[in-house]
Amino acid sequence: MHDFDYQNGNLFCEGVDLNQLASTYGTPLYIYSENTIKDNFNRLSSALSDLDHRIAFAVKSNSNLSVLKTLNDIGADFDIVSGGELFRVLKAGGSANQCTFAGVGKTREEIEYSLEQGIYSFNVESEAELRFINEIAKEQNTIAPVAVRVNPNVDAKTHKYISTGKSENKFGIDFEFIEDLYLKASSELNNVKLRGLQMHIGSQLTQIKPFLEAVEKVSPLVKKLKANHEIEFFSIGGGIGIIYEDALASGKKEWWDNQDPENKPLTVEEYAKKLVPILSTLDIKILLEPGRFMVGNAGTLITKVLYKKIGAAKNFAIVDSGMGDLIRPALYEGHHEIVPLIKNTGETQVVDIVGPICESGDFFAQNRDLPLLQEGDHIALLSAGAYGFVMASNYNSRAFPAEIMVNGTTHKVVRKRQSYDDLIMGEEL
Ligand code: LLP
Repeated sequence: MHDFDYQNGNLFCEGVDLNQLASTYGTPLYIYSENTIKDNFNRLSSALSDLDHRIAFAVKSNSNLSVLKTLNDIGADFDIVSGGELFRVLKAGGSANQCTFAGVGKTREEIEYSLEQGIYSFNVESEAELRFINEIAKEQNTIAPVAVRVNPNVDAKTHKYISTGKSENKFGIDFEFIEDLYLKASSELNNVKLRGLQMHIGSQLTQIKPFLEAVEKVSPLVKKLKANHEIEFFSIGGGIGIIYEDALASGKKEWWDNQDPENKPLTVEEYAKKLVPILSTLDIKILLEPGRFMVGNAGTLITKVLYKKIGAAKNFAIVDSGMGDLIRPALYEGHHEIVPLIKNTGETQVVDIVGPICESGDFFAQNRDLPLLQEGDHIALLSAGAYGFVMASNYNSRAFPAEIMVNGTTHKVVRKRQSYDDLIMGEEL
């Protein structure tokens, strides 16, 4: 469910007409719904209400300060992957003791900074990293809280670039090495405290099976570790998928009610129903690290059709945004539903929606049957709230878009559009 829909033929986010935002602020423009973000958090939280749990928002999915503040204000914790993300959480009003720090390549500077700030846990991804954290903690005369990320060797059945829980992936430590490592750490490494165990098998999972397989496989390990060490949490990672193909329709409850029960996309209620009975037997705090589920369908990218080109093989609509603003189609052939800001129920045309960047991969859609578009029309790329702006680049020296947060009938620019001066900031001749 989300807060994007047509009202009298105009696309709205909550109570705000997106046509108006596009004409006031120009395009490309990211727009987020505060209500959708809060709803997603509350829905997941209430589905898990029988479980001792904390939701650590995966900051990498959307690190805009206002998004972080919105989530902090309603009780989220944070899953971070860099010193920069910790800095953002602090700026948004959060604290380091709400943060778990993941990632395979933490640097000395990042480890020192996190320790100084009082990080809740480092999620360690190799023995070498564990030893390095121990060494730095010793230098600082402190004890570093750590969890080890276990790689359960489970196939998440998602795009190969976002699958992380198989032995061939670079993430985590193999399942069979974990017990030994905890023993070694508790006897040899005096400046780390084993605080938990973590896993994350992949992203954009729309079926329960891989989650279930991973939780069933790792739960006995959690019990064993808990018996021998004072661990207090088990993080089951993120990964809950969202609806991309039917994004607009999936904003309404009826869409979900009409899905074929056999192939229904995973809901958080179903996720909780299947996992809570197993997790609650562990008698330990459960952490979750959702990113996409929390913000994916809460954001859209608005762009304008600059030109139409009728080619020998294809029709193109060239828009003023491209892979620099939203790289998911180019990088993962990610599908984003595209709808015009002014509803058009008439003629359709098969087109490629392409950007201005000098790369053939710079497309948002290929051979897509869309309502007939004219030059000057605005379109919305839906479900762009996660891994959208955060993956933007200035390639071709194109400035970053502005970002707007909508709340009811009001809105706020939460990040200004970049200027040409911003583009050369820090450079010297
Ligand atoms: N925890 C860890 C350790 C992760 O690596 C990730 C995502 C998450 C949590 C959050 O996963 P989520 O709930 O958002 O699925 N750029 C790609 C997705 C990359 C995911 C990276 N890790 C995309 O646009 O699909």
